[in-house]
Amino acid sequence: MGNSLFIKNAAQLITMEGHCDKPAVREEMSSFNIIENGSVYIEDGKVVEAGPHEQLEGKYTAAEEIDATGKVVTPGLIDPHTHLVHAGTRENEYAMRLKGKSYMEIMEAGGGIHSTTRATQEASHEELYEQSRKRLNQFLLHGVTTIEAKSGYGLTLEHELKQLEVAKQLNDNHPVDIVSTFMGAHAIPMEEKENPEPFVSRVINEMIPEVAKRKLAVFNDVFCERGVFTPEQSKRILEAGREYGLVPKIHADEIEPYAGAELAAAVGAISADHLLRASEQGIKDMAEAGVIGVLLPGTAFFLMAEFAQARKMIDAGVAVALSTDANPGSSPTISLPFIMNLGCLKMGMTPEEVLTAVTINAAHAIGAEKEAGSLEKGKKGDVTIFDVPNYLTLSYQYGMNHVDTVIKEGRTLVAGGRLL
Ligand code: NIG
Ligand code: FE
Repeated sequence: MGNSLFIKNAAQLITMEGHCDKPAVREEMSSFNIIENGSVYIEDGKVVEAGPHEQLEGKYTAAEEIDATGKVVTPGLIDPHTHLVHAGTRENEYAMRLKGKSYMEIMEAGGGIHSTTRATQEASHEELYEQSRKRLNQFLLHGVTTIEAKSGYGLTLEHELKQLEVAKQLNDNHPVDIVSTFMGAHAIPMEEKENPEPFVSRVINEMIPEVAKRKLAVFNDVFCERGVFTPEQSKRILEAGREYGLVPKIHADEIEPYAGAELAAAVGAISADHLLRASEQGIKDMAEAGVIGVLLPGTAFFLMAEFAQARKMIDAGVAVALSTDANPGSSPTISLPFIMNLGCLKMGMTPEEVLTAVTINAAHAIGAEKEAGSLEKGKKGDVTIFDVPNYLTLSYQYGMNHVDTVIKEGRTLVAGGRLL
């Protein structure tokens, strides 16, 4: 009995089981089991059994019970691409964009990522921690139990380490799990624009070795984009990270087609993210190399750009995951449920595919598939309970938060839609 929890009688229980070895692709993304009147038993933070209520009934005596009658139970949602740790906001640039300035014009003039970099460099560890902790609570309230978080608003060794240290401390102190990515190659510092090579060299020779030595990140990400890092520079940075055990990720083909998807396949990245302008060849290469496509429709929505071709990617065999890209410039939201709506309405995904994309496929995109992303024996007891009668409603009613209860490793953290 000990620390044990019985969630019972869900109108629909979706376990997402059966994809712990490989992400779901093609029709696997929409062919999960829907268990009516389902229950889950969790002990010492781990799932013991999830299945039809009659199969579990009478078998376990739990310290705590949650009645999920009339509700939908899923694995805790996973957001595989966020810029959680940063200081400040950029509503002024939003207003400029509404008057016709473009995202890249603003960045080239010293705003954009540079503006958040200045704010993040100026912020103390404690200030960054506090701002990020509040955002993490918002993720939790929206049903998210694991996120990835990137550095990249420091751009010097000192400030990149500060961002990663904050993420580590939040991971230790806050129940939401954080998987860290080093993204020193997020922008070229303004004063080095004309001659970026010394900066690229500092990322490779100074930052990557130190981040790896301190074990502050699992992944290494690059903003491969015209006017930022070229495919050639991106390749060198990703390969250098690999030497130090940092697995490549890439911001690819976000604003312009730039052969980012092709590069992701060539370097064996775990994921290529954004892909709004990915080429046919890039999509094919990703499917063949098993690179997960992390799509961020909140960014296309907020930048008023064309959306990534999720339908085409899934049909080509790319495993797709969805994420908020939470950041102050191109996607100021923490709502993964809203991203699910956009996945359906703007990228041609089905309600089943979007659910797979924010659970087990998202887990694969950050190497967390053995412990999270599905409700199966031995995995973490991370569960989200939505106050809706069926999962279809999740991607049908939009701009609402249907989260009722969030459980992290068997502990109830959100109940009745409120933080406990
Ligand atoms: O994923 N593209 C680069 N990075 C972020 C945006 C960061 C920002 O604007 O602050 C993105 O869109
Ligand atoms: Fe991003």
